[in-house]
Amino acid sequence: MNQKKEAWGTRVGLILAMAGNAVGFGNFLRFPVQAIQNGGGAFIIPYLVSFVMLGLPLLFIEWSIGRYGGTFGYHSTPFMMQSMDRRRLWKYVGVFGLFSNIGIAAYYCYMESWTLAYIFHSVIGTFTGMDQQQVVQVFSDYVSLDKATLIPFEPIVFFLLCLILNIYILSRGLSGGVEKVAKIGMPMLIGFGLILAIRAITLQSGHDGAINGGSVGLNFLWTPQFDSVYNPKVWFAAASQVFFTLSLGMGSIHAYSSYLRKKDDIALNAMSAGWMNEFVEVVLGGAIIIPIAVGYLGIEKVTELAGLGGLGLGFKTLPFLFNQWGSALATVAGVMWFGLLFFAGITSSLAMGVPVQGFLQDEFKWGRNKSAIAFGVIILLLGLPTVLFFNQGVFDEYDYWTGSFALFVFAAAEAILFAWFFGIKKGWREINAGADIKVSNFFKIMIAYVTPVLLIIVFLGAVFTPTHNDWVGAFNSLMAGNGWLFDHGSLVGKMLNTELKEQIAAATDPVVIADLKYKMLLANLTKLLLLGLFVSISLVVRKAFYKRKKEGRWES
Ligand code: TRP
Repeated sequence: MNQKKEAWGTRVGLILAMAGNAVGFGNFLRFPVQAIQNGGGAFIIPYLVSFVMLGLPLLFIEWSIGRYGGTFGYHSTPFMMQSMDRRRLWKYVGVFGLFSNIGIAAYYCYMESWTLAYIFHSVIGTFTGMDQQQVVQVFSDYVSLDKATLIPFEPIVFFLLCLILNIYILSRGLSGGVEKVAKIGMPMLIGFGLILAIRAITLQSGHDGAINGGSVGLNFLWTPQFDSVYNPKVWFAAASQVFFTLSLGMGSIHAYSSYLRKKDDIALNAMSAGWMNEFVEVVLGGAIIIPIAVGYLGIEKVTELAGLGGLGLGFKTLPFLFNQWGSALATVAGVMWFGLLFFAGITSSLAMGVPVQGFLQDEFKWGRNKSAIAFGVIILLLGLPTVLFFNQGVFDEYDYWTGSFALFVFAAAEAILFAWFFGIKKGWREINAGADIKVSNFFKIMIAYVTPVLLIIVFLGAVFTPTHNDWVGAFNSLMAGNGWLFDHGSLVGKMLNTELKEQIAAATDPVVIADLKYKMLLANLTKLLLLGLFVSISLVVRKAFYKRKKEGRWES
């Protein structure tokens, strides 16, 4: 082997890197928005139940698959999965673990580049004196590419900058790059988060222009509504959030854990990283945007803004709200908020690069630099459509197929592989090998029966989601011979672009119709592109497999 063997430097470094992998925009932007859209307190119970029944068991599964595969020298999922069961099909299931990371990174790095741009604009005082509408306008102009006036093609400049930064860190290797960034970035993130959270919850109505005290937003989020337990929509949203925030079903945790040694603990490490993510999500993530936004705008207005494309909420509202604290504090708060988002983003995008890098190193003997640059170039090419056609919905199309659908498929498949093919007996032994804590037998039962079945249900729910999540209504319609009523957000709805079709049918203005048809064309091209990506990765994996066989590096 012509390259130095990668490994984690220290245990603290490993846990921080794993926590950094999990802690991302999901914690600060997606979680609050999901909570708002699902009725605040109604969200919390399904969320916590999903964390225990799906999140923790899957963390154990993914850490053990990774460490197990790593002992054979596999650092990405295709061959890891095939090493657990002889059937050759598994390596194509493992393709999802590269596909998701590449596809997610393509739009995630674009978002990450927004944080750099917003740090820059906070420092130079772009938002000073703006009203709420103007701050929203800055965001709309920015993503419209040509409207940003200060730097020509500003979003592209920051996107490139962000990619170069990622490539550079990845090229420094695991302990010299990724781990170092996590060791600096995570403490800074938690520090900034605590300061902003304290400021948010101590808001007082009538001071600094606030109309509500900080407790109004907190109560909105934390007052449990027990009837949410009967609402499948809330359950589905909660389970999806648990997946996304813990980076589950993506092949990223496997890659990080493949650099462990055979007897290294996974039980306590997985718990530590998982709970750290939950702390950052429900304590910090829940205590910044919601109390500040509700404090200044009220619950109704915030709910309305969240409905208009959630991820922008932190970019569209907070700079304006910070302005109310005076221009010096506004700059500090802006740098802290977007700095926090930047650290959250970069420790996650690096985690998307590591499996891809690992695959290229394992299979083609590429070095660190070459594999890091290859990752960067792939992300540049695949990311550009999301940058150029952001307003036409290409970003959302990526998000659905790679950041949502693929996770359900892969998570269900790996849980089945682990519990039923590899076998719970061997699996349980893997989880407990070298463990520094005793893992409760509760998780054994979960992993053996409950988690795989729940994941199959979640997957089917994603395929067949009925309109407004009205399962009873959809069954009645089916029985009455009127067919199943698919929701726009269901797999079938997304596949057939039912939402756009409905909009086209309802539109009368030819200009609007042409615009919608253009969006539909782009949506279909994006699907083709992503399908092409999946097929290409599969072909490369197939090639790697025959290469291994020829070189006698495949024992079976
Ligand atoms: N967990 C990250 C967040 O909360 C997002 C994420 C999605 C991710 N997919 C990933 C991180 C793959 C690392 C690897 O924002």
